[in-house]
Amino acid sequence: MFQGPLNESLLKKAQSKGLLSLKVTNLRDFTTDKHKTADDTPYGGGAGMVMKVEPIAKAISKVKSQKSKVISLCPTGKLLTQEKIKSLAKEEHLVLLCGHYEGIDERVRGLVDEEVSIGDYVLTGGEIPAMVLVDAVARHIPGVVKEEESVKKDSFYEGLLDYPSYTKPEEFEGRKVPEVLLSGHHAEIDRWRRKEALRRTLFRRPDLLAGAELNAEDRKLLQEIIAEPE
Ligand code: ADE
Repeated sequence: MFQGPLNESLLKKAQSKGLLSLKVTNLRDFTTDKHKTADDTPYGGGAGMVMKVEPIAKAISKVKSQKSKVISLCPTGKLLTQEKIKSLAKEEHLVLLCGHYEGIDERVRGLVDEEVSIGDYVLTGGEIPAMVLVDAVARHIPGVVKEEESVKKDSFYEGLLDYPSYTKPEEFEGRKVPEVLLSGHHAEIDRWRRKEALRRTLFRRPDLLAGAELNAEDRKLLQEIIAEPE
């Protein structure tokens, strides 16, 4: 599952430049029976299978060192945010445990540092969430994204959604690029972009505004937006 997504585009370049190193470990290699059993039926009965603790414990102790942070990807974890991504990007080594089936033996909890969920929905396994985490973390490693400015200005960086972007042509099916972007007036362009980022956040994600760092100018722009006719 990991080969495709982790070996394309920016992640591929980051690895070949030595900015990032990724290694996949198969839990089945840490099983002891001939069927390589990594899961079993739940105590107490019920549907589904539960991942066994021993192969996970062995795999984790094989790959982790003093500098590792062990993260389990599971729908019951703490919700992943941009803030969290930025702090994970400063870690030396992350060990990402991908759960599967109905769940993992509860005793695995004692072996991990954190449990992380990528959203309030359930996937078939933690592999895609792990790839989401790797991709988002990689963008914060210096040199992975060519223009670091673009990482800084991204949606969520200052707690706001990104402003709208346009490229050629100037007009598409009667829809024109906003005049100000063609003006070459940088201060006005910055003001417009900030206002549109605030507008988007206000209408699409008002929950984010409460946590965003807003200055006096931002408050003025918000008042302008609210006062505008619909
Ligand atoms: N495994 C299954 N669903 C998940 C989710 N939403 N986040 C992280 N890991 C998961």
